[in-house]
Order: sequence, then structure tokens, then C-alpha cells
Amino acid sequence: MATANRRIGGPGERVDAGLKVTGQARYAADVVLPNLAHAAYLGSAIASGRVLTIDTTGAEQAGGVLLILTHHNRGPLGDLPNGDGTALAPDPRPPLADARVHYHGQFVAMVVAESPEQAAHAASRIEVTYEPVPCVVDIDDAEALRLAENPGRGDWAAALRAAPVALDVLYSSPVQHPCPLEPHATVAHWVGHDLVVYDSTQWVLGDRALLARAFGLADDRVQIFAPFVGGSFGSKVCTAAHTLLAAVAARRLGRPVKSVLRREQVLATIGPRAATRQRIQLAAERDGRLVALRHHTRSHCAVNSGFPDRDPFHEPTSSVTRMLYACPNYEAVHDVVPLHLMKPGWMRAPGEATGLWALEGAMDELACQLGVDPLELRLRNHSARNAHTGKPYAGEHLRECYERGAERFGWARRDPRPRSMREGDAFVGWGLATATHPGNSDDASVRVRLDCDSRGAYAIVATAGVDLGTGLYTALAVVVADALELPLARVHVELGDSRLPPAPVTGGSNLTASLAPAARAACLQLRRRLLGFRRDPDEVAAWGELLARAGLGHIEAIGATESRAVPEQYAYQSFGAQFVEVRVVPELGQVRVTRVVGVFDVGQVVNATATRNQLIGGIVFGLGQTLLEQLVHDPARGVPVGADLSGYLLPVHADVPDIDVSWLDAPDPAFNSLGCRGAGEIGITGVAAAIASAVHHATGIRVRDLPITPERLLAGMAGEREK
Ligand code: MOS
Repeated sequence: MATANRRIGGPGERVDAGLKVTGQARYAADVVLPNLAHAAYLGSAIASGRVLTIDTTGAEQAGGVLLILTHHNRGPLGDLPNGDGTALAPDPRPPLADARVHYHGQFVAMVVAESPEQAAHAASRIEVTYEPVPCVVDIDDAEALRLAENPGRGDWAAALRAAPVALDVLYSSPVQHPCPLEPHATVAHWVGHDLVVYDSTQWVLGDRALLARAFGLADDRVQIFAPFVGGSFGSKVCTAAHTLLAAVAARRLGRPVKSVLRREQVLATIGPRAATRQRIQLAAERDGRLVALRHHTRSHCAVNSGFPDRDPFHEPTSSVTRMLYACPNYEAVHDVVPLHLMKPGWMRAPGEATGLWALEGAMDELACQLGVDPLELRLRNHSARNAHTGKPYAGEHLRECYERGAERFGWARRDPRPRSMREGDAFVGWGLATATHPGNSDDASVRVRLDCDSRGAYAIVATAGVDLGTGLYTALAVVVADALELPLARVHVELGDSRLPPAPVTGGSNLTASLAPAARAACLQLRRRLLGFRRDPDEVAAWGELLARAGLGHIEAIGATESRAVPEQYAYQSFGAQFVEVRVVPELGQVRVTRVVGVFDVGQVVNATATRNQLIGGIVFGLGQTLLEQLVHDPARGVPVGADLSGYLLPVHADVPDIDVSWLDAPDPAFNSLGCRGAGEIGITGVAAAIASAVHHATGIRVRDLPITPERLLAGMAGEREK
């Protein structure tokens, strides 16, 4: 029963584009309900210590105030889960739990009023006294705690001693923030004893589980809606404090409550990417083949993360160093450093984006040390299996990515000597890095209903999965249109509703690979059932005709993807090769990225428009990671400095060069029926190391600390002149 396959992988329109450009797509903060009340928060003015007194008298007298919650009157909540699954963010304690303060900006009071302005005004009139204790917010200023160690392989120390070539380098990255364009927002509404929540979340079922526990309700008494989400990048996985408090306040008031975080509250109270310090020790034969690799990471966690009983959250940097290159002797150790900051969390390609920054930077240094071309060094260390588990990749085409990328970029014309290429006042440099991200999928289900109206057959596709703006609406419409041979406009997709068939969190680039095969499976069930009503196997009959013969008004089926069904003898991993050109005017120290070429193997692409958008978006995210982004905290008081979009710098159009992304036509059929692996995160993974390598090629200066700011580069060049 082969289907037409007309659309899979083709360009095609974004099916949600019309709703978005006309403002009809309704995000959480757009929800308006009768009698809606509005929340505002007062954040702690200290980073460490406790609240002594809270005087709410002035706030209570302010206009429009309906309710003020503090730790004195927030009331009881059920026992909340705090595992790797559903979890409360950013603080593992429920909000307004007690007088303790663990980070600056932690909510100490919530005000609900008739209007957002009245709520904010009243919050400003609350008077709080504190007993501060000194805070520590710099990862280099606090003691580290060793996490349980993962098994290594071989004997790295002996191999390092015996090797003819060795390298020992320290790479750092600062606290960075996902900063989604849409601030975190919730509307909570009690309908009788049932809780209805409109939330900007990556995971309606995670929200549902947490809120059901908090209020002692059965899961089906809680409904979560997230039809549209305006970006998240990991920051909307967990259920946030403002979501829980909106539900508490709505119940107390008997009115719906809207809670929209201000931009500085997003930056101050939603978990960021942890700061890292990564020591990489490499040892190699003279031809560049690695014989030992040791990776020692420190990343920050929150002081109140409950370590060692609970996972304090560690930035999983070693996920890439352990598997990428063939290397017989390997060890990774990870320390966490508790700081008076909100608990860090996931941010686009957690682990890969930070781990490859260090590993691929070190590989470029090794190439320079050996006088081997950096691309050639990667080829000499290429591994066709996961170097740690030893499992062969079911689909692996990294060499082809390198080859095509090098050709598109013109890598062969590179003069390896630093400062050898100039254009006008600028030094020009070329660098490259490997990109990689695991192929992830989780148990997921999709319902497809085939129906008919006066214009013919149409399908309704439904799942609880959430489209974060990545193109899931389009991907599912494409898969169903293809499998049922319907025009794209005749497929209607419903997402982000906890009552629909269950789907996993949108995270780890997993959702298309989880849901697209499930949608296809549902369609194939429908086809099988309806095609049985043909008069003979060659008869061409419209779906409407077959439905009529079957005596059915409509027909529906649920398709499922089971992560357990993936063959275990294989590893599933996406790869890419990223090439970057920079221009550096030495007097200014400013790095302009002028060209990027990325060639990726992400398995079967379902929709080219959305995939391009994801890969380019990942690369732009990487430009920010490398050149601009750092969330700085004042070391004396722990205050996030410049915590808004004028102080926390993100790439703008003028920072974004010509980006050439392409992908191989390489389905991974062992992974799922479509052979697709997901493309949401891989785009960012190699960017930082590729830019740093290009900067070194341009200037001769190796910057190992992100972001690569003009100050750092000028300091490096000044140091070079003194030598
Ligand atoms: Mo993400 S950082 O895959 O939620």
C-alpha cells in the first residue's frame, strides 16, 4: 500500500502562516475571559537570606486590588513531583513556600488586581525587610561538588603519558538565557472543581500532571491548552512558578487570573543555560589520531537544588565528547557549583552546544599544533559507531557532510597560516566544526479522522503535542496529506490540548520524529479499512464514495509511535559540518561573521521550509551564543544586570550573514517509518567552535571564553604584540 509521497521533503507553505500574520493565532497572553483578573509579582531584592517582614497595607489600599499572596497566606499545595519528568521551575520548592530567599528576583509576593497596571502598582507598594547573607553568583568563586561519575573507557591517564602529542585547554561559557520572543504567560480558570489553563508551555501533559498533584485532582480534571507558543528553546519544559500561582489565585478568587511575566522577570526567574568551565585534555599520535580524551566540566546549579538527593541539573557537556570521535581511552567527570541563582535548565541543544564548543575548539588547536588541516583531522578520527556504546549508527553520513560543505564553502582554497587572508582593513578567517545531535523519539499518539463535506474528503489530525513555532502543524499536515492523498488545505491539524491523544514534551528535537510516524500509521489504518470497500483492487474511488459504501459518516484511527520499537542494536544520531568565514578589523576587535555553510544529515526531511527555518534559526542562535550573549550578575548583590532585550544582546538582522544550509537525502528507516530524526537543535551545535576557529585563523588569537567580545579579542591582540 505505497502512498504517493508527493509532499514529504518538499518546500510547501507553512499551514499556520496565515493565522500568525493576521494575528488570529491565539497565544496564552491573548486569552480574554469574562471577569478576568491580572497578576503581578514582587521579586526579592536580595539574592540570599530571608524575608523578615512583609507589609502589604499600602498595597491592599491601592485601587483594584483583589488578592495579595505571600508565604504567610499562600495556603497548602500537594506534594509536587521534581524529577526529570514533570518538574517545577525554576525553584524546586513551590513558590511562596517560606521566608528563605535563594536568588535575586525570587517571588516574595503576588498581587492580583482588576488590571495589570493596578497589580503592578500595588506590588510596588509592598514593603519588605530582609535579613541578607552574602551571596555567591560566580562559578569561579564557589566550591564544586562532584557528581556521580559515568563509566569511562580504557586508561586515559596512561595513554596521555605515553602519547607523543598532548593538549590541555580550558574553555568557558557564561550564563546564557533562552529568551523566547513570547514571554512566559498563563491564564488559569476554575470551572466548577475543574482547572482549565491556557499556558505557554512545551508540554501540556507535564503541566497537567504537576497541577493535578498540586491541587489533589485526577488528571482528567485538569485541562491545558497551548495551541501556539512563541518560542521557548527549553525554557517552557517545566511548569513555572507563575503558572502554579495563577491557578492558586484563580481558585481563591473564583475568577480567572492572567499572569504574564515581564521581560526582566523571564530573565531573572526562568532557568538559564548553566555557566560552564571545561577542561579538555587530548592526546594523539603524530598523525592526529586520538588516543586519549579527558573532559572535566564544572557547571553551576542552584544552592537549593537538593543535591545530592535530587538532580541539581548539570549541563550535560560530556554527551558529545564521549561518543563523537574514535578514541580508545576516555574519561568524563562533572562537578556542579551551587550558586545563589535560579536553577538552570535546558537551553537549545543542552550539552551539545556547550560540549562541542570545548571539544571542537580543542580539535582545531590540535590541528594547528600538528600542522594538519582541521577537516583532515576530523576525518582521521571519524567513527562510524557511537564511540562509547560501540553501536553502529543506523544512518550516518558525516563524511559526506564534510565533503559537500567543504565544496560549497571553498575550503580547499584556505591558506592555513593565521593572518594570511586580508580584505581591506580586515583580517579574514575560515573555521569549521562538526555538528551533532542525537536522534530522539518518545511514545506518542495521533488521531486522524477522515470526513467528507460538499467539497470532498478532509482530515482532522489531533494530538496533545505542542508546536513551539517550529513547524509541527505543517509537518503533520504534510504527512497526512501525503498518506491520504488529500490537498494540504483539506488537512486540519489540532495541537496543544491535553484532552487530545498523548504526546511527549516538545524537547530534544524529538517531536516530528515521534508524531509524524504516528500520524502516518493512523492514515495507513484508515486506508486499509476503506480500501477494503473497493469493488476490485484497481478501482479508483474517492474517499467519500468508500465511506458511503461502508455506511460510515466518517472514520477515525489512532496511530502510535513506540520508542521501544526502535531497534536497539543501532545508535541514532544526526550530524553536520559547519563552515564559517569571519572578518575582524584588528583596531576594533569586532568579529563579523560574513558567511556560514552548513550541511546536515537529519534523516528524511518532512518539510523543507520548516527544516531550513530550524537549521538557520539554530545557526543564528549560535551567533548569539558565540559573540553576544551573557547574563551577568552583580557579584556583590547577585542582581542580574541589564536583564532585558537591550542589555542581554541577541543577534539582529544586521548581525546575520548569508547562511547556506542544505541537507543530505538520507532517510534513517531503522529509526521510524519515515526515517526522520528532527532538526530543531543541531544547527546551533558547531557554530561557536567554528567561529572561534575562524577568529584564530583571521587573527592568530585563540579565545576560549564566550562570548568572543571585542574586549577579549583586543586584549588577546595586545598580549600578542607584547610578546
Ligand atoms: Mo529543548 S532545550 O530540546 O527543550
